[in-house]
Amino acid sequence: MWNESILQPANENLRQALEILDHDGVVGIPTETVYGLAARLDRPKGLEKIFAVKQRPFFDPLIVHVESIAMAQKYVSSWNEICTVLAEAFWPGPLSLVLEKSMATPDIVTAGLTTVAVRMPKSGSTLELIRRAGVGLAAPSANRFGKSSPTTGAHVLSEFDNGVFVVDGSAAEIGIESTVLRVSEKGLTILRPGLVTASAIERVLRQKNILFSWFELSQRPTVESPGQLKHHYMPAVPLMLVGEFDSLPEIKAYLRAHADDIPNEIYGVAVARPQSFENAQELVLPGDPILAAREFYGGLRKSGESGSDFIFFRVRSTMSGEIWSAIFDRLTKAASLILPTAQIVQSAPSGYPS
Ligand code: TXA
Ligand code: MG
Repeated sequence: MWNESILQPANENLRQALEILDHDGVVGIPTETVYGLAARLDRPKGLEKIFAVKQRPFFDPLIVHVESIAMAQKYVSSWNEICTVLAEAFWPGPLSLVLEKSMATPDIVTAGLTTVAVRMPKSGSTLELIRRAGVGLAAPSANRFGKSSPTTGAHVLSEFDNGVFVVDGSAAEIGIESTVLRVSEKGLTILRPGLVTASAIERVLRQKNILFSWFELSQRPTVESPGQLKHHYMPAVPLMLVGEFDSLPEIKAYLRAHADDIPNEIYGVAVARPQSFENAQELVLPGDPILAAREFYGGLRKSGESGSDFIFFRVRSTMSGEIWSAIFDRLTKAASLILPTAQIVQSAPSGYPS
């Protein structure tokens, strides 16, 4: 459980947030992963507003944030023992469970899918807000569609032109989005990797002697989780992934030769295309992946705002393991170009068919 004493929500802020939500509005909510842009599940106009404010297409489903297992169970119809064990082990925390939806979940939230993602975030203010609302809050990450996720209240404020009320502004402790796990009769599938890793999930289920199997994504006929869109999380300035030992002149020469490969629009989202390759900004992250995840989006934002032509990130051989894989999931989607020298090692859970 989280520590109540260090996360006392400011009462007045919560009161204001509730009022906005009650009047079909949206508010920025802190979570341990990234900030969300929330509306009440029982306010269709508020839910529509999320898509409008984010400029998010309606085919992209939202995560329902709950304050308890009991509340999660209201919105789904296929809760099972695996869900109970995982929720007890990881909630509140960075794990979203994708299950069959119930009638209580509106179609706009799931983009018409029969499944819904639910999670209990680890933030005292947000949990208290959901408790007081008495209803789940649907929330995607509080960034414009296709752009980097916000990890502070200030990021949320700078993201949208019309100003969005933010519940509290503290920095997100984890820094990358939750693990999205599909739980179905066929088995478990990680739709989006995060800090709750496949091996942590395996460990918890084995400890409880629960039989399960991994069902690999590529066996599915279609990919319906739009977090898997090829490009996502884009910073304001193009990001290039480069090799550990590439020199700056080598990097620039490569980019000049491949300038035409840098896209300028992806799914209708404009992506900055560098006019020149003079000013480079290196994104440097700590070697410890937990710290790297925490600093990732903030670092990307800062680099994008530094006035440089492009950002580059060095992929190092020491960056391996499941948490680095989760970071690389974002890095590769945020990147406009990946140099052949950038050797990314993806680690799959042991139970996955290879
Ligand atoms: O950590 C997080 O998950 C943050 C905080 C705010 O909770 N939220 C977040 O939301 O990252 P968003 O909308 O940026 O990403 C939600 C992801 C997307 O990849 C979406 O496609 C997937 O969850 N998702 C939601 N509902 C789904 C469903 N029914 N089936 C498959 N994927 C789903
Ligand atoms: Mg997002």
